[in-house]
Amino acid sequence: EKGLYPHYMLKEIDEQPSVMRTLISEYLTEDGLSTIDKKIVSHMASSDRIYIVGCGTSWHAGLVGKKIIEELTNIPVEVHLASEMGYDMPLLSEKPFFIFLTQSGETADSRQVLVKVNELNLPSLTITNVKGSTLSREATYTLLLHAGPEIAVASTKAYTSQIAVMTYLAQAIGLEKGIELAKSIDLAHEMAIIASVMDSMISEKELISGLSESFLGTTRNAFFIGRGLDYAVSMEAALKLKEISYIQAEGFAAGELKHGTIALIEEGTPVIAIITDKHTASHTRGNAKEVESRGANVLTISLEDVAHDGDELVLLPVHNLLTPLVSVVPLQLLAYYASLQRGLDVDKPRNLAKSVTVE
Ligand code: M6R
Repeated sequence: EKGLYPHYMLKEIDEQPSVMRTLISEYLTEDGLSTIDKKIVSHMASSDRIYIVGCGTSWHAGLVGKKIIEELTNIPVEVHLASEMGYDMPLLSEKPFFIFLTQSGETADSRQVLVKVNELNLPSLTITNVKGSTLSREATYTLLLHAGPEIAVASTKAYTSQIAVMTYLAQAIGLEKGIELAKSIDLAHEMAIIASVMDSMISEKELISGLSESFLGTTRNAFFIGRGLDYAVSMEAALKLKEISYIQAEGFAAGELKHGTIALIEEGTPVIAIITDKHTASHTRGNAKEVESRGANVLTISLEDVAHDGDELVLLPVHNLLTPLVSVVPLQLLAYYASLQRGLDVDKPRNLAKSVTVE
């Protein structure tokens, strides 16, 4: 039930800090040890390459998961769109392991790949919100998102919980392999910080609603830019905005705009810059300047460590591998308000279903 909330999407955005807290106790013991089945961990630790498969927002979570898993486990990761992989299986490594990311556990495109993986007798893990779902039953292993039902068509808490679950998994594998970075991270502590930074963003609804009105109020298109993890979040932010506000939006690698797409920038085009990484912040700021000088209205979301005066939204610092968990929250809210301000059906956008059970 959505209770006092006007929409499921808003409720589900607000639930994210509590989901993060639930996941700490689901995936770690009081002593900070992983609760993940040792069989999954050792199976994955012995793999030479991990293939993440998903669609839409789950695929976007996979892009973030790739970075986290590679850093914490030293195992190379490829991320694939299920609807492509189903027809064109890439060259596989000697000991591949597949992760299926799917909130519903029922997505036909993803299932089609799992069927092929099973025909090849290869090991798989489904990370899903729905216990007993088709992809959970058909994969070798399952891990649950513990996010509670996600009703709004636009996925929010599934994205953040998928990233969190992959982080717990990656650390467990990294510890098994003796990777230094995995040993050095106190995940319960980092995730508790994440939950409170999410809380602080969620309390900025009025500010974000105002930003949506002034930056996205009348526009027909918008761009989101970032580098690395911020680029991955840009794509998710663009999907969210398209899906519920019908504003044409694109997530772009900040440095790539000048290779063509910058031609679309006109007086007043909104460009939302996501800047959380100190190694790339100055470059992305440079790209924001480039579009600004061509008339774009730049809205900057940054992390405190790299913030400049005038940034519209500044997030408190979190672990540098986990920034998407917090930077996505204001972007979800921005999409929510853009849809609301246009008088659209936030929870049930046109042409879409919650669970896509056709290929
Ligand atoms: O249930 P799944 O995670 O497999 O669904 C995948 C996509 O259909 C889903 O994430 C979709 O992109 C969302 N509506 C995006 O908000």
